[in-house]
Amino acid sequence: MTLPCTVSIIGTGSYVPEKVLTNFDLEKIVDTSDEWIYTRTGMKERRIATAEQATSDLATQAALNALADAKVKPEELDLIILATLSPDMTFPSTACFVQEKIGAKNAYCYDIGAACSGFLYALDTAKNQIAAGSVKNALVIGAEKMSTILDWEDRSTCILFGDGAGAAVLQATDEGRGIMQASMGSDGSLAELLWAPGGGTKIPVSHEMVDQKQHLLKMGGREVFKHAVVHMSKAVTDALEKNGLTPDDITCFIPHQANIRIIDAVAKRLNIEGRMYSNVEKYANTSSAALAIALDEAAKDGTIKKGDLVALTVFGAGFTWGASVLEWSKS
Ligand code: ACO
Repeated sequence: MTLPCTVSIIGTGSYVPEKVLTNFDLEKIVDTSDEWIYTRTGMKERRIATAEQATSDLATQAALNALADAKVKPEELDLIILATLSPDMTFPSTACFVQEKIGAKNAYCYDIGAACSGFLYALDTAKNQIAAGSVKNALVIGAEKMSTILDWEDRSTCILFGDGAGAAVLQATDEGRGIMQASMGSDGSLAELLWAPGGGTKIPVSHEMVDQKQHLLKMGGREVFKHAVVHMSKAVTDALEKNGLTPDDITCFIPHQANIRIIDAVAKRLNIEGRMYSNVEKYANTSSAALAIALDEAAKDGTIKKGDLVALTVFGAGFTWGASVLEWSKS
């Protein structure tokens, strides 16, 4: 299917909280070691939001940075899509709180729940709405306060995640190829390998549910690892094929920042070692924010330049996964 216009990212921004939690700090919380965490995940530290900061506060800072980068005023936004698995509250959407905080009074707003894949899903959704002519300026955000949904007594999960937010402003442009066709997939049969089962309608909030920590993240790490490698590799291959490209055409691959061993395994499968971007050492896994933060950092540190083709790929709970290719249009 040929889309009627080119849609590009015209600005990016990110925000991470000030508080740094190192692997050495974690040694004092659970039975672990810096050596174990670093060799198995590539992580050295992560950021933790304050008690007063909600997900929308992290998202707001990232959004304001992206709007400044794009030179777009909040009131010029028509659409805000926010991806998160740690919303401010069940409803209304966290996107509406961000709208209020940045003063985007002309935008309509909603959240996307696709866990760690959320930012790419939101990016593809916003691109299609712009391409269809429904909106002109869209803001896409990935934001998480993972620290509130972790079991800080479970060493197999609490060491892996951090808090943060990233954002991108999208607009129709008349140069380059912009955001191209994506390849997405999901498999709900494997949901229980990564979930927080309590607190919704299936297991409603109760003292018993909280005592059993059903509202906190649970994961089968080894299984998640295997599926992440297989699905991200295949999604990248499919997205490249859809757009008539090969891995050699891509300057930089930006994957979901779950674990350096997952990233390295995908790079090996695709024979693209040396072109994978990673900041997992600094921020750990910030779920839907991870790709957005990495994209912003790759743009700001000069890793990606105007005219470069960039491939993005994600994997998350659901399971959900996807990949997209874009031509970077900012100088
Ligand atoms: N410190 C020390 N030991 C630990 C820790 C820890 N933090 N965590 C687990 N262990 C122990 C286990 O108890 C186990 O001990 P045992 O052999 O005595 O039973 C041993 O280490 C090995 O445990 P495994 O779980 O088999 O370790 P593995 O090598 O698979 O590494 C890890 C675990 C890092 C979680 C890995 O499986 C992984 O990275 N999986 C992917 C997780 C992920 O990225 N999830 C998110 C992706 S999607 C999204 O972002 C939402």
